[in-house]
Amino acid sequence: MTALIEARGLTLAYDSPGHRALALDGVDLTIERDESLAIVGESGSGKTTLGMAIGRLLPGEARREAGDLLVEGRSVFDMTAADLRALRRDKLGFVFQNPMASLDPTMRVGKQVALALGGRGDVAELLARVELPNPERVARSFPHQLSGGMAQRVVVAMAIARAPFAVIADEPTASLDASVRHRVMDTLGRLRAETRASLVILSHDLRMVARHAERVAVMYAGRPVELGPVAQVLNEPAHPYTRALMRAGAGGERPGERPEPIPGSPTTLSARGASCAFAPRCAMRRPVCAIVRPESRSIAGRQVACHFAEAILAEEPTVEETNS
Ligand SMILES: Nc1ncnc2c1ncn2[C@@H]1O[C@H](COP(=O)(O)OP(=O)(O)OP(=O)(O)O)[C@@H](O)[C@H]1O
Ligand SMILES: [Mg+2]
Repeated sequence: MTALIEARGLTLAYDSPGHRALALDGVDLTIERDESLAIVGESGSGKTTLGMAIGRLLPGEARREAGDLLVEGRSVFDMTAADLRALRRDKLGFVFQNPMASLDPTMRVGKQVALALGGRGDVAELLARVELPNPERVARSFPHQLSGGMAQRVVVAMAIARAPFAVIADEPTASLDASVRHRVMDTLGRLRAETRASLVILSHDLRMVARHAERVAVMYAGRPVELGPVAQVLNEPAHPYTRALMRAGAGGERPGERPEPIPGSPTTLSARGASCAFAPRCAMRRPVCAIVRPESRSIAGRQVACHFAEAILAEEPTVEETNS
């Protein structure tokens, strides 16, 4: 069966005078129906570019250099303007970091939700589905009268209004108080399961991902370096970058302690290199890493782009899950 969404060697650069950023460097990734996939990585790793490419919502300076992105088997780069409008309106739903930026400040919430529904459903019913208390009152409100968490629930309601087959959520909880983050994600997850849509979560928050996604793609410098089921990838990372990210955000810090950062800065390449992009920051690098770009390989139930994935897996003691 055709995958719902498939990136095949997708390579995309932003060109501006005097600057070039290779935002996606040969991304191979499949998103199935009825699954939740998280795309994680540091700032600049290409998460937003990949998420937006699904709806071909890319800025003018973005240039596809190679590869393709297929939705239900059709290239978004071959679609007509009318096809793209229909795709974005009826088949995809988007949730962004800042709900206030997604809502029109001058229009009552109910009217905005009604527009999203396009006459195909009841506003209060939809607001109740995203677990907003007192939906009628919310509908009469202007966005600024809502808390951040409530506003993000309205945005979620608008994103699912036309029963899309995929919801793309870009840092959906980053602007929310820690106390409501998981609850908003729980709602998104529940709606995903009910509607059997796919949920793509773009985030740098590994702990959030561990709880709310089934599969995870760890991006570095524009490509997934490790991709597989959350439990495998996060409990037993096979890529040094995943391992470093897990350590940095492990959550084992004592009060007042900062998580240990990964030494060095994240990289955005200007062109594909002959080396492993993570090598300059990698504690396990060997001479080969500076001269051979590791291809993605299938190992231990996941895809990994590291020359030494087997050795890393063998060396890492298996962390027994303590959820029993
Ligand atoms: N409109 C643009 N023009 C030029 N470069 C851009 C543009 N948008 C993104 N880039 C560059 O492309 C690379 C990938 O950016 P992208 O926003 O996809 O990363 P991200 O993983 O979403 O980062 P963040 O966590 O900061 O949101 C970065 O180097 C970024 O500077
Ligand atoms: Mg982003």
